[in-house]
Amino acid sequence: MELKGKKIVLGLSGGVACYKAAELCRALTRVGAEVHVVMTEAAGHFITAVTMQALSGNTVFNDQWDSRVANNMAHIDLTRGADAILIAPCSADFMRKLAHGVCDDLLSTLCLARPRQLPLLIAPAMNVEMWQNPATARNARQLRADGICIFGPAAGEQACGETGLGRMLEPEDLLEELVASFQPKVLAGKRVLITAGPTFEAIDPVRGITNLSSGKMGYAIARAAREAGADVQLVSGPTALPTPHGVRRTNVQSAQQMHDAVMAAVGGQHIFIGVAAVADWRVVNASEQKMKKHDGETPSLQFEQNADILASVAATTSLSGWPYCVGFAAESENLVEYGAVKREKKGIPLLVGNIGHHTFGQDENTIVLFDDHGHTVLPKADKLTLARQLVSEIAKRLEQRSLLK
Ligand code: C5P
Repeated sequence: MELKGKKIVLGLSGGVACYKAAELCRALTRVGAEVHVVMTEAAGHFITAVTMQALSGNTVFNDQWDSRVANNMAHIDLTRGADAILIAPCSADFMRKLAHGVCDDLLSTLCLARPRQLPLLIAPAMNVEMWQNPATARNARQLRADGICIFGPAAGEQACGETGLGRMLEPEDLLEELVASFQPKVLAGKRVLITAGPTFEAIDPVRGITNLSSGKMGYAIARAAREAGADVQLVSGPTALPTPHGVRRTNVQSAQQMHDAVMAAVGGQHIFIGVAAVADWRVVNASEQKMKKHDGETPSLQFEQNADILASVAATTSLSGWPYCVGFAAESENLVEYGAVKREKKGIPLLVGNIGHHTFGQDENTIVLFDDHGHTVLPKADKLTLARQLVSEIAKRLEQRSLLK
């Protein structure tokens, strides 16, 4: 995975969320990261160095005057060769220290003495009033201005019994954020709207027609676009997938609902990517009540064509040039020929062809990109890898487009 071999300095400051740092440490080592834990004295009141040492497999440092460190330079040595420092949990007090250049213990000194290009990432965790206090808000602004990246915090029920912003992000979300921090920000400042998954066309209140799309490719693209710095909105048919961290999601069932949700959200979008496997037809004589089974009788369904969402969006782009539209197509034969024709017919600058429909539900895929210069094959890879390549290909084309204008 993406963090394999990365050296991460994991700093813990004082907060009850230290219990989540143990999970995070375990998750990081599981994906092959080399984790070096540094704890403040306050963190030691919430979790022991023994636990963090067992989970990281490396010596834990918590004392500036540690006699085990022969040269007394732990505050320098620990960050040299590191790929990132992640402070999780980061208390209000530790944010203050970072914002003001305080260096009165090992962790704060190490942060101040870090090489300038080494990313410093923090995951705040504190009571809602502490987070919303103007002093903390001021420190947060200062940290952002200094190039320090703030993950979260999330809103919800807090250990103190109050509710609101201040919860540390969950370990799996922090892992996604950390992975994202290493991705190039090729879509920074761009708004991206994506459809994903299957649609469900009702026959009656409990029955319907759907397809085998799992949503994996669309969700992977949503994640990759967010990692690339975009603001991402996902309109999703029914899937069992978790929403990628930081992505807004609207759930729909039918193609008509997907069409309406997309048209309501499309204004101001820079990129539209239609990945959903949208039903071509809907049942016009769907029953309001559950249909009864009568011996010897079979229901007769009548169909009407659904609107083509991608074509409707593409039709809105003519004046401003936005959104840049990307479509998907699964063809079981003659992909190269059909792909090029379909792109022209849809009136879109980029079409992504899947080889066959066997990709439905799978973790890997092979795709072919069609644009007005011809076609390019992206060889078989897992869907997240392909999604990142696609995002980079889209960014490249947007860049070329702006150079041509
Ligand atoms: O024409 P075909 O269904 O093969 O086109 C597939 C592409 O068009 C996909 O990007 C899909 O999301 C989009 N589409 C759509 N609305 C439809 C049918 C397909 O947006 N009703």
